Amino acid sequence: MKADFLRIAASAVLTLGPLVHAVPYSPHLHKSVALVLIDIQNDFIDGSLGSPRASAILPKVYKLLEDHEWPFIAASQDWHPKDHVSFASAHADSQLGGSVEISFVDSPLKTENQSLYADHCVPGTWGAQLESGIQSRLWDLEGYRAPVHYIKKAQDHSVDSYSAFADNQYHRFTTLHSELSLHSINTIVVTGLITSACVRGTSIDGIKLGYEVILIEDATESFSAEDKENAIKELQGWGVQVKNLTDWEAEHPTSATGHY
Ligand SMILES: *[C@@H]1O[C@H](CO)[C@@H](O)[C@H](O)[C@H]1NC(C)=O
Ligand SMILES: *[C@@H]1O[C@H](CO)[C@@H](O)[C@H](O)[C@H]1NC(C)=O
Repeated sequence: MKADFLRIAASAVLTLGPLVHAVPYSPHLHKSVALVLIDIQNDFIDGSLGSPRASAILPKVYKLLEDHEWPFIAASQDWHPKDHVSFASAHADSQLGGSVEISFVDSPLKTENQSLYADHCVPGTWGAQLESGIQSRLWDLEGYRAPVHYIKKAQDHSVDSYSAFADNQYHRFTTLHSELSLHSINTIVVTGLITSACVRGTSIDGIKLGYEVILIEDATESFSAEDKENAIKELQGWGVQVKNLTDWEAEHPTSATGHY
């Protein structure tokens, strides 16, 4: 009886031992703070919706991935079926940069204006893939230094989804909010593309859901400086804290950033 108990207890210790040691206290870990990468996909950099401004964010995001330890990282990807509602090519007589009025999927009397874009982020294409430097860094971190959660959004043919939390009609939510809750996250550090669209939508939903939201201004870009500036002003009005990487790192030192 006693021997059995000891054997069971010993095997429990052996089983639990490595688990306990796999999560050591780390002075680099930004407790309760998640890094959120919005749509850093080829199409938004040098693909069909590319902008010469976009690639400037890459060194900043690489630094956030390399020099900091995160209890949770989320990376979203636009993930559109062919003939998606946001593609100008899917609507007769519609133009790139224009918009069409569409009905809500669950409430035909309600409408919204859907902006129209070139076809982008279609699964199976190069443009839908995360930028290679971002992807390789995430692969290095995954399951080893940080849990990485990928969100493929806007898969619904008839509703677009700028936010990584939910579609534009709040018809369906993604798993982001529940994953953040599971990891006891209360603050999200938002980076990525495009400031006035998916970064804006994610940041606003983050505020609505009760998170502290920090936007790293030099780790996000838009189609123009004016577009970015207007989006940032609006987000500040929502209570989003906007900081550059230097200032954010100064407030969140780690040994890697030299201030620790
Ligand atoms: C859609 O845009 C048109 C023209 O800008 C505007 O008159 C209309 O009120 C908008 N509809 C919605 C639902 O926002
Ligand atoms: C970051 O913002 C601060 C102001 O808060 C400014 O003094 C500094 O020059 C900025 N640094 C960079 C690299 O933009």
